Amino acid sequence: MVAPLRWAQMTTQVVRAGQEDWAAVRDIRLRALSDAPEAFASRLSDERDRPESVWRDRLSSSDASTFLALDDGDAVGLVTAYRDPDEHTRAHLVSLWVSPDRRGHGVATALTEAVLRWAQLAEIRTVGLWVTETNDAARRLYERCGFADSGARQPLPSHPHLQEMAMHREITE
Ligand SMILES: CC(C)(COP(=O)(O)OP(=O)(O)OC[C@H]1O[C@@H](n2cnc3c(N)ncnc32)[C@H](O)[C@@H]1OP(=O)(O)O)[C@@H](O)C(=O)NCCC(=O)NCCS
Repeated sequence: MVAPLRWAQMTTQVVRAGQEDWAAVRDIRLRALSDAPEAFASRLSDERDRPESVWRDRLSSSDASTFLALDDGDAVGLVTAYRDPDEHTRAHLVSLWVSPDRRGHGVATALTEAVLRWAQLAEIRTVGLWVTETNDAARRLYERCGFADSGARQPLPSHPHLQEMAMHREITE
């Protein structure tokens, strides 16, 4: 559990999701893909038809972590990080999304910080991610959280007319 963020009369908590949270994770992931399709490599149609077992498997892996931001129990934000299967001191941050009515209050920052703390505990040295080049809000957020442009570019798999850029952040002791 990560320290709660408080604003107005609402309290947002960042929690690590377990297998039992698979339906809430699926629901918010589908909302994210529907709200911001050009921010993600996966398509809504890829994720929508996956069976329960796939969601549970993702949440039970010891080499991955999914965090939910909860407002009074309702999921309003999501992020996942997983260890690179070939390079064990490297992890990837994916699927970051915050509900539009909760943006601008530090929820994504809190989710990203949760990933960075998880990475440190997991003895990860570098966290990498891909962000659509035109996604200024996400780029600014990542820069503020210490990520830098890695230089690599590739077409966004879900929308190949867009370019995504690689960013990375070193994890220090
Ligand atoms: C990108 C995204 C995740 C940012 O989420 P967010 O919760 O609004 O992010 P944060 O609040 O942590 O930071 C965003 C802004 O709020 C500001 N902010 C942070 N804490 C704040 C607070 N307590 N009060 C007011 N504003 C605050 C930040 O300064 C930042 O402003 P800036 O970007 O103009 O510099 C969100 O816009 C989103 O889900 N977009 C669609 C999906 C997406 O692009 N995902 C990234 C895929 S790579």
